[in-house]
Amino acid sequence: MSAGLGEGEMVMMTKTTDEYRASASAHLWRHFAHPDASAINVMVRGEGCYLINSDGDRFLDGVSNMFCANLGYDYGAEFAEAASEQLTALGYQAIWGSASPVAIELAERISSHAPAGLSHVFFTPSGGESVEAAWKFARQYHGLRGEKRWKALSRRLAYHGTTMGALALMGLDDYRATFEPLVPGGVRFRNTYRGDRPADESEEDFTAFLLADLEERILQEDPATIAMLIVEPLQNHGGCLVPPAGYAAGVRELCDKYGILLVLDEVITGFGRIGAWFASERFGFEPDMITIAKGLSSANAPIGAVLIHDRIDEEFRQPGRVVNHGNTFGGHPVSCAIALRNIDIMERIDLPGRVAAKESELRATLEALMDLPTVVGVSGAGFFLAIELRSAALDGQRYSDSKLAEIYSHANIGARLAARGVLCRVMIEGGRPLMYIGLPLVADTSEFEVLAAALRGVFTDLAHTYGWFRADGPPAI
Ligand SMILES: Cc1ncc(COP(=O)(O)O)c(C=O)c1O
Repeated sequence: MSAGLGEGEMVMMTKTTDEYRASASAHLWRHFAHPDASAINVMVRGEGCYLINSDGDRFLDGVSNMFCANLGYDYGAEFAEAASEQLTALGYQAIWGSASPVAIELAERISSHAPAGLSHVFFTPSGGESVEAAWKFARQYHGLRGEKRWKALSRRLAYHGTTMGALALMGLDDYRATFEPLVPGGVRFRNTYRGDRPADESEEDFTAFLLADLEERILQEDPATIAMLIVEPLQNHGGCLVPPAGYAAGVRELCDKYGILLVLDEVITGFGRIGAWFASERFGFEPDMITIAKGLSSANAPIGAVLIHDRIDEEFRQPGRVVNHGNTFGGHPVSCAIALRNIDIMERIDLPGRVAAKESELRATLEALMDLPTVVGVSGAGFFLAIELRSAALDGQRYSDSKLAEIYSHANIGARLAARGVLCRVMIEGGRPLMYIGLPLVADTSEFEVLAAALRGVFTDLAHTYGWFRADGPPAI
C-alpha cells in the first residue's frame, strides 16, 4: 500500500489512513492531546519544507514540526548513511566510564561554533533534560564552592520543558497547574514584552525598568539562595520577544553582582534559526551555560546538550570531583553521528548565513499582511517570528478569553490553513492571540509566498466572519 504519491515516491504503509487513525485512538497517547485520533494527519513523508500525509496531501511545514526540522526533509539519505555507518561499527556506547569517537568529535565540533569560553559539552536526550542538567550543574557548582544555592529564576510565559524539574521553571500556567506542588525553587520574573508599557517610554528606559524589576525580584528571594537564571535569547512564548538594547549586558551584570549563573536556553534558537549558530551572540548575552537540542540534529535524532563555560569546568576539574549527573541515552553514538552529519550539512550550505540573508524578506512578506484588520503586528528575528492577531472587536472592545478561544480555534485557524496546504496554529498567551512562524531554515521565496497566500486567505475569512472590515470596504485581496 502506498501513500497515494507519485511513481517513484512510494511509501510503504501497512494500514489505510482510517485504520491508522482507529489504531492510534486505541493505542497511542499523543502528547498534549486528547486520546481520540479519529481526525489526525498520519504523516508519512517529507520533501523540502513540505510534509505529506497518508492520503498524499502536501502541507508546507510552517513551524519546522516543533521548531526543530531546521534542514527540512531532504537530507534523509545522508542521515541514514551516517546512522548506518555508526550502527554497523557500534550501536551503543555509554559515555560514563568511557566514550565513543563520535561523542568526542561532536563535543569538539559544537565547541567550535559556540560562543567563546563555552568549550565543554554534556550530552542529554532532549531539551527539557538539558535544562534539568543545567540546573543540577548550577547547584553542584555552588556546592563545590561551599555555597548552598538551589533556586532558579525564569521569565513569565517561558517554556523550558515539561519534566518535573524543568516544569518548576515553566512560565505558562496551563502546563504547570495540573502538577502542583512543583519542585521547589522556581521563581518567575518579567519577560521583555513591551506592549503594556507607556507608549512614550524609550528603549533605554524600558531596559532600565526591566533590570530594576529583576534586581528587586533577586533581592526578594535572597540572592544567596539563587543558583541560576535562565532565559531564551529571544523568548518564544509571549510572542518571539526580542531583548531591548542593553538588556543582555545588564542581566550579566546582575548575575555577576549576586553570584548567579546565567543559563541561555537555546533549545530552539541554537543552530541557525536566528541567522547565527547561537542567538546568544547575536543579542550580546554572555552565558555560563547554554542548553541546546532540536536543531543540533535538525530533529533527525533525539539529542540535546549543555554547553559549559571554562570557569564552571574549572571547579569540576579539581582532583577528586565528578560531574554528578548522567543517564543512559545522552550522547548515544547514533544520535551523535547524525548530529555530526547535521553540522556538516549546515556548514556546507552555510545555513545560518542563509537565514541572515533571507530574514528581512520573510519578515517583509509577513508584515505585508498588516493591511488586513486581523493582523496587529509581527515580532521576532531570523526564521522565528510571531504574528499577533486581533483581540478586540471593531469598536475596540476586547473579546473575552472564551470568545478569543472560539475565534482562534483549530477549526477556524489550523484546519482552514491546512485546507490551504499550510501547517501553523495560534496560541493565546497573556491574553494575546499569537501565530508562530518557524519555517525550516532552507525555506525560500517560493515557500514564503505559499505561506503568505494561505495566511491572507484565512485572515480575510476571519475578518469577514467577525466583522472586522470597516464599512468603507475591505481591502482588495
Ligand atoms: C526553549 C525550550 N527549552 C526547552 C524545551 C524542551 O525541549 P524538549 O521538548 O526536547 O524536552 C523546549 C521545547 O520546545 C523549548 O522550546
